Amino acid sequence: MIRKAVLPVAGFGTRCLPASKAIPKEMITIVDRPVIQYVVEEAIAAGIRDIVFVTSSNKGAIENHFDTHAELEASLEAKGKHDLLASLRSMVPEDVNIISIRQGEPLGLGHAILCARPIIGDEPFAVLLPDVLVDNSDTPRSDLAGMLEAYDQHATAQLMVEEVDWAQVEKYGIVAPAGEAPAPSSSADLVGMVEKPPRDQAPSNLAVIGRYALPGAIFPILEKTPPGAGGEIQLTDAIESLREQQGVQAYRMRGTTYDCGQPLGYLEATLAYACRHPELGGDFKALLARYHLGA
Ligand code: G1P
Repeated sequence: MIRKAVLPVAGFGTRCLPASKAIPKEMITIVDRPVIQYVVEEAIAAGIRDIVFVTSSNKGAIENHFDTHAELEASLEAKGKHDLLASLRSMVPEDVNIISIRQGEPLGLGHAILCARPIIGDEPFAVLLPDVLVDNSDTPRSDLAGMLEAYDQHATAQLMVEEVDWAQVEKYGIVAPAGEAPAPSSSADLVGMVEKPPRDQAPSNLAVIGRYALPGAIFPILEKTPPGAGGEIQLTDAIESLREQQGVQAYRMRGTTYDCGQPLGYLEATLAYACRHPELGGDFKALLARYHLGA
């Protein structure tokens, strides 16, 4: 069972400027909590117990967010604000560890994952890219939990994929399944994958959405992976080498994704999450109606 996850949070967040100038883009709020909190909640709900942030110098707010704030807690206690206090205290359950390690230079996603090697060791682990929110509120179970189970069942690396518009393939890692595309909540062997291909060279429109289950064997491969697309050490290139050595599968998700690494994506996530928020949803829908937007 995979218990460790790496969340690379070192990037500048250029697509979110100016919002991400002095705060990390991962701290942008969706309704009542930062994007990163949803991703950490997703990992914990799927059984992850060690969460490794790969950070950089201006990302201290992320570490602070998941740390105890003794002064604030004492103040809430003194004022009798027990619900708020409980919500802060339950953010990181007692059996969950939040660990962080630095990526000194921005050399790419593959390099960021390699930075977590001293903590992960040789064990299999999950990777969650915190730009992407996976919403499983309408599905019977979490896609991440399903993918981690598939890793155990098949003893093979898993890449979570969803179908995207063909016009979008050049924004993603794209996989080539060996036969038919996998059915939702199941896996299929891959015969290749390529990072951000032009539309006419894409082997499918199944895009890697930023959730991976990988063996420790990826680390020695990452160490030898030369810079690829954009001059960066690409996780996709290392996974392609892993596939040649021991096979890799695509796991087809069922939920909905929101790309919170860009403004329209986090606006859409805000809309979707606000409408179904237990306390704010009703009033938010009334607001939408007032602005003649329906709900
Ligand atoms: C990264 C990965 C890419 C993946 C994408 C998902 O790209 O390299 O394979 O499809 O995340 O969001 P980035 O968006 O960081 O350029």
